[in-house]
Amino acid sequence: MENLQGLKRTHMCGELSLADKGKTVTVMGWAQFYRNLGGVIFVYLRDRSGIVQLVFNAENNKELFEKADTIRSEFVLAAVGEVLERDASNINDKVSTGQIEIKVEELRILSKAETPPIYIEEDSDVREEVRLKYRYLDLRRPDMQRIMQTRHKICKLARDYFDENGFLEIETPILTKSTPEGARDYLVPSRVHPGKFYALPQSPQQYKQLLMISGMDRYFQIAKCFRDEDLRADRQPEFTQIDLEMSFVNVDDVIEMNEGFMKKIFKEILGKDITLPLPRITYKEAMERFGSDKPDTRFGLELVNISDCVKDCGFKVFADTIKNGGSVRAINCKGGNEKLSRRDLDALGEFVKTYRAKGLAWMNVCENELKSPIAKFLTQEEIDSILNTMGAEVGDIIMIVADRDQIVFDALGALRLELAKRFELTDKDTFDLLWVTEFPLLEYAEDEGRFVAKHHPFTSPMDEDIHLLDDHAEDVRAKAYDLVLNGTELGGGSVRIFNTDLQQKMFETIGFTKEEAWNRFGYFMDAFRYGTPPHGGMAYGLDRLVMLLTGRDSIRDVIAFPKVKDASEIMTSAPGEVDNVQLKELSIKMDICEE
Ligand code: AMO
Ligand code: AMP
Repeated sequence: MENLQGLKRTHMCGELSLADKGKTVTVMGWAQFYRNLGGVIFVYLRDRSGIVQLVFNAENNKELFEKADTIRSEFVLAAVGEVLERDASNINDKVSTGQIEIKVEELRILSKAETPPIYIEEDSDVREEVRLKYRYLDLRRPDMQRIMQTRHKICKLARDYFDENGFLEIETPILTKSTPEGARDYLVPSRVHPGKFYALPQSPQQYKQLLMISGMDRYFQIAKCFRDEDLRADRQPEFTQIDLEMSFVNVDDVIEMNEGFMKKIFKEILGKDITLPLPRITYKEAMERFGSDKPDTRFGLELVNISDCVKDCGFKVFADTIKNGGSVRAINCKGGNEKLSRRDLDALGEFVKTYRAKGLAWMNVCENELKSPIAKFLTQEEIDSILNTMGAEVGDIIMIVADRDQIVFDALGALRLELAKRFELTDKDTFDLLWVTEFPLLEYAEDEGRFVAKHHPFTSPMDEDIHLLDDHAEDVRAKAYDLVLNGTELGGGSVRIFNTDLQQKMFETIGFTKEEAWNRFGYFMDAFRYGTPPHGGMAYGLDRLVMLLTGRDSIRDVIAFPKVKDASEIMTSAPGEVDNVQLKELSIKMDICEE
């Protein structure tokens, strides 16, 4: 096999152009494609920057020609030759180097390749398991290479922007103590301390707050986070955050700093100018209008509360729901009559049941009649009142759910997205960025019979709501905010509690006794006793940001070596078994899961 002895790359393949005509260049890369047309062989040579055409002519050099004839897909080559302008008839507009080719004078075959199990080409539709098993080949594909370049560029922009604004990049530990971010921890057994475990960080939350107490003033980090939770298209067990924290700030200061970052990202990555300040909507409004705390606002189909129209009606399901403190809300599916059959409506009824709704009532507004399974229970006045409130016109279908607010929001929120998907109401080139603010501080966990922090227990309540903590904890709003892009939560954060008493009160409210709180977070609360600046921050899901900016549907596509649904990595088969010696060192005995 040949090597690089005496050769030095002069150009990347995709960088060559007519301006290089007449130059002798040295390029290196993979053979993408080869054609032998009898007297001439054409090879596309590919590297990270693109492709360039190599030409071998039998007439010029027979030996070289015969060597070129042994080239197969994915062979690694080095070629030295002169850049020639192609004949007008041979110009290829599809590639950036389509006006030129390299007349090869020296060829080295640096590495041969077996026939690869997947095609190395743009957007190949190979099954994902195969792509992930041979991820190193999958990553050779031009679209994957572009994604990795964009990901790099976003990280670079983050470093530049936060540096320009006085943030210090500081690393925090990966082997840490369990932190309560809401998911299950990944644990690492300690050899030196038998029976004890480190936890991998779900986020650097406490460390970054401690850095504020340390006087670092502004911190940022591109941080790996680990959460053992059920995976979805936008969730991985290990993922990356752009994480930041600032001292002496209020909610508006954090938001303003991050809007500047978004403006830069959108400009540099997509060439789009976004208008600042970004829209803000409170959590309450988001739920009432969109049934979601991460609303996709690219389309309408908003929820409307029709409880007033039906509170005394003869349909017991509606009247009783309202009496019991629930609500009746509806979506106007504009022009639904033409698009949805009776069968579709039944299927949508089953769809909302997966969100715990008991059913979906509908009203199909036809010329001169109303088709609806519930019309018989309603007076004409009640029907008119619903149609009026919903702005219904002929051809519309009103879809109604009655239940506890949370179930109505979940069901109609999901129905809204489902309808938008079916009717293709979302445009991939529209980017709707907005803040959702004033989240509830707590939510009631029914299975645990206690309140839990909605964001995390270090989030500050809003000043005007602190007095509600004792008796109406469910009504307390937090100084918390999420940044939402096209219905995906891109990032979130809060202004933090910076006083020990309030922090302790928070722990009590979520059911930790004083002892438990000090046991788990003593080091943290201790730190607050020595002078704590007011502070706040946020974290972006870097993977989600890259996914949305590159128009992908899954964050697996923007992570070099992602995990699949069952949290395993197909290529290396992690997680794997370890031998007994390793276990013994860690004082671990397999017992419960012994096969
Ligand atoms: P939060 O838990 O909201 O906040 O996480 C911040 C952002 O991280 C992304 N994210 C994920 N991305 C991929 N896979 C996951 N499993 C996953 N989980 C979260 C989301 C989310 O918006 N410490 C706080 C931030 C703060 O308060 O400053 C935190 O971690 O895009
Ligand atoms: P029923 O009389 O139970 O057959 O219900 C009549 C219609 O009301 C059916 O279309 C049901 O799907 C619907 N429905 C039942 N419960 C609810 C509910 N909680 N909210 C909305 N629609 C409901």
